[in-house]
Amino acid sequence: MAGNKVTRCICHGRTFKEVQAFARKHQIHSVEELQQHDFCSNGCGLCIPYIKEVLTSGQLSFFPGEPFQKDSVS
Ligand code: FES
Repeated sequence: MAGNKVTRCICHGRTFKEVQAFARKHQIHSVEELQQHDFCSNGCGLCIPYIKEVLTSGQLSFFPGEPFQKDSVS
């Protein structure tokens, strides 16, 4: 079922692995900084909860909606 996983910012065509590498290289720790670099997350915005997880946990592959479920648990 790997084909059903969320693994990229579709609007920018960047994988979460690419986002993670860019963030590490440029010492970026927030979605806002990535948006300022026009690297990801400033199109439709649907990837923002996933990108936040990429930056905080390092997770690179998600079930659709997975970050929203984590938010509702707390
Ligand atoms: S999927 Fe990332 S901005 Fe649209």
